[in-house]
Amino acid sequence: MVNIMSMCYVLVTLLFFRAASADSQIKVTDNPADKLVAVLNENRTADKISTLSDNPGLACLALQYIKAYQGDCGAVGGSDAKKPPESQFAEVFAPNCGVKASTLAPITGRFLGCQTKYVHAPEAFSDILIRNQRSLDILYSKNHTQVGAAVTGTDGGSPYFWCVLFSSGKPNSTFTFEGGVAKLTKPGCFSGANDVCSGADGWSSLSGIWLFATSVLFAFLL
Ligand SMILES: *[C@@H]1O[C@H](CO)[C@@H](O)[C@H](O)[C@H]1NC(C)=O
Ligand SMILES: *[C@@H]1O[C@H](CO)[C@@H](O)[C@H](O)[C@H]1NC(C)=O
Ligand SMILES: *[C@@H]1O[C@H](CO)[C@@H](O)[C@H](O)[C@H]1NC(C)=O
Repeated sequence: MVNIMSMCYVLVTLLFFRAASADSQIKVTDNPADKLVAVLNENRTADKISTLSDNPGLACLALQYIKAYQGDCGAVGGSDAKKPPESQFAEVFAPNCGVKASTLAPITGRFLGCQTKYVHAPEAFSDILIRNQRSLDILYSKNHTQVGAAVTGTDGGSPYFWCVLFSSGKPNSTFTFEGGVAKLTKPGCFSGANDVCSGADGWSSLSGIWLFATSVLFAFLL
């Protein structure tokens, strides 16, 4: 009797863990930054170019890069375009992410786009970030070995920023976190950290506004 009961207990426990792990696997894909990296890698593969490692440390820097704009879409492109000084990577972005400054590697390309309307990753890729031959050249560059993506709405709402950073560093030994664990910085989502980040709660409440939002679009490439 005791044996049967403990067997039942083990069985229930196993089922519970199976359910829990299946559940977390479903949620892990629920991150627009991870989805953007997936779309980007699919596109590279279709062009017979290697897929890039998704580096969470690099992706965290991409989120910091967005934050440097303080929600100002107008500074992303156009005649008033600005970009954060390169020194910010080591002095501000890396410490905010808990990324060891000694492990920073060259940035071989970057995309930054901003739009008042929220779109999903495939549309962000094709409609905001990849808009001309120059961006395709950056996307298909063989200089990259790894990538990191981030997306954020200012205070969880519009405007929405998308940022992709590429690097030529060795995936496992560059942009590494102090203690080896990704430091999640909110608000915003970044790729590669197995982090559930749909942001849907904050964003869905604004759906009425998106409908009427003008689609101001800026993209800036280097
Ligand atoms: C890759 O993305 C670009 C830009 O959206 C698109 O024009 C091209 O058709 C895509 N390539 C493939 C093979 O899907
Ligand atoms: C790749 O790197 C080399 C050397 O830094 C540079 O000259 C070249 O323009 C880069 N290619 C692309 C497509 O960015
Ligand atoms: C990087 O680390 C992962 C997991 O630890 C390992 O599977 C992979 O082979 C490593 N890649 C390189 C290039 O060392």
